[in-house]
Amino acid sequence: MTVPETSASKRIGVFDSGVGGLSVLREIHGHLPNIPTIYYADQAHLPYGMRTPEDVRQLVDLAAEFLIAHGARVLVIACHTASAASLHDLRARHRDIPIVGMEPAVKPAAERTQTGVIGVLTTRVTAQSELYRKVVDRFARGVQVITQPAPELVTMVEQGTQDTPEGEAILRRYLAPLEAAHADYLVLACTHFPFLADKLQALTDIALIDPGAAVARQVTRVLPADVVPADAAHLYYTTGDPAQFQRSLNRLLGIDAPVQQAL
Ligand code: DGL
Repeated sequence: MTVPETSASKRIGVFDSGVGGLSVLREIHGHLPNIPTIYYADQAHLPYGMRTPEDVRQLVDLAAEFLIAHGARVLVIACHTASAASLHDLRARHRDIPIVGMEPAVKPAAERTQTGVIGVLTTRVTAQSELYRKVVDRFARGVQVITQPAPELVTMVEQGTQDTPEGEAILRRYLAPLEAAHADYLVLACTHFPFLADKLQALTDIALIDPGAAVARQVTRVLPADVVPADAAHLYYTTGDPAQFQRSLNRLLGIDAPVQQAL
């Protein structure tokens, strides 16, 4: 049975500027099967990584209000850029709701590196954020961190162009300085990038770190008691084109579900 959208199901609310957060959603679905989720993609305003932090904060506020109004009782900011710009403010504003955000996974990379060099693929807003600076200062002492903002890769995942010759050339261009510096771990510090993992791994031996599963485990830990398994459909909204998002959902996660317009 599919419970209509108006049902009172309490949900996990997952947010990203686009399809990237689906890399976190698939882990949440894996760790918490049958817990209803609602996913909000702000594709009308993508890419966040090219906006100002203030701009991102305003957009994230709207998304959070939307998700809460549609039954979210825990928020997952499945976007490094949005987390870096607004997690602090958002938690202050919504003290009654657990909020899980993304933190660049520098710690596991710095702990595991044998060569003493790690790479971080991310967005400009994340790279310039205080959160990122703190994570690097705290966890990467004595480790060389090569930080690469990679806006084209966000577009690449949205459009699914990584298997074209142009796509492969762009990926090689990002990998070249990491290979030259003998990096042995690469942190995927943008939730879009795990969808490039197979392609990247075909081009390099550098080990990739995707924080999606760790975030899903954290959601399990903070899940409010009234968010329970239910026979309700997962909900998907975009501020962009629902038909296009529906195709991406199918391409990236193999899910065939209706997508609604969020205004
Ligand atoms: N998926 C987002 C992140 O994790 C970024 C995409 C964007 O620039 O909009 O940072």
